[in-house]
Amino acid sequence: MDIKLKHLLDIESLSKEEINFLINLAIGLKEVLYRPIPKVPTLRGRLIVHLFYEPSTRTKFSFDRAAKALSADTLSFSAKGSSIEKGETLLDTIKNLEAIGAELFIIRHPLAGAPHFVAKHSKAGVVNAGDGSHEHPTQALLDLLTVKEKLREVEGIKVLIIGDIKHSRVAHSDMLIFQKMGAEVFVTGPASLLPEPDELKYYEVKPGKLRVCNKLEEGLREADVIIALRIQRERHGKALIPSIQEYHEFFGLSQKHLDIIKPNALLMHPGPINWGVELAPEMEEYPFQVILDQVENGVAIRMAVLLTLLTGEK
Ligand code: NCD
Repeated sequence: MDIKLKHLLDIESLSKEEINFLINLAIGLKEVLYRPIPKVPTLRGRLIVHLFYEPSTRTKFSFDRAAKALSADTLSFSAKGSSIEKGETLLDTIKNLEAIGAELFIIRHPLAGAPHFVAKHSKAGVVNAGDGSHEHPTQALLDLLTVKEKLREVEGIKVLIIGDIKHSRVAHSDMLIFQKMGAEVFVTGPASLLPEPDELKYYEVKPGKLRVCNKLEEGLREADVIIALRIQRERHGKALIPSIQEYHEFFGLSQKHLDIIKPNALLMHPGPINWGVELAPEMEEYPFQVILDQVENGVAIRMAVLLTLLTGEK
């Protein structure tokens, strides 16, 4: 089935068919990255602009690598050193970049909904590369691709997400994508970092399906996939947990959990990792840790997204 999308703003508005389409396209495109010259001419002459109003390493380089593997041209903007410092609005920035020829914006912004706002007011396509505490759809797609590659089946598996569920856009997009694909999702973390019951409903694909575990061990025993998250301190600007050491003691993963987790349970993390907080350093040696596979799959997913958005209007 051919799918047409103009923007990729969130997982919430994607159908299961659209998700499957992007995943299958990424699987096909991944092969390009292992060729002696890892490049195809498909998007030659097309102009993609990275608009990053927040720090990023993986996401930004991964989008850039994806664009270049498809032979697109890229321009990179970062808020520092631009006219933003002279007071230019987001919309003026967009209009000027459109006048320069931008066809697709990759936007990371501290405000939830900023990419949706741009999509409404611009002729170009928009990809949300993370908007505040809201969503991070390409991270969820690459997480799903990694699980599919490693476990084959997603339907019926159990996914445990640990940490700052309330403020993590990765948690939100992951909760939605794994439920949409038929997995059971449960979340755990300190009470101050869990969403209120009303907020949680927003991320439930079927009412009553999202489970909250009060204790880490309760979720760990059942999980086929374990996703550890970073504490999003910059999102709330204050200490919502008594101490990092205490967080590690109750919600950090370490050697002591190896006895209770399922054999072959995958361990994932979107990065950046704080070793010694969400993961003890020894967890790097855990044989089913797939953190760099996630990063690698990020390029293929972003190639699939760029290609879909730039080759079919909706
Ligand atoms: C995440 C982000 O920025 O949302 N990182 C990423 O894109 N891989 C997660 C985080 O910052 O903790």
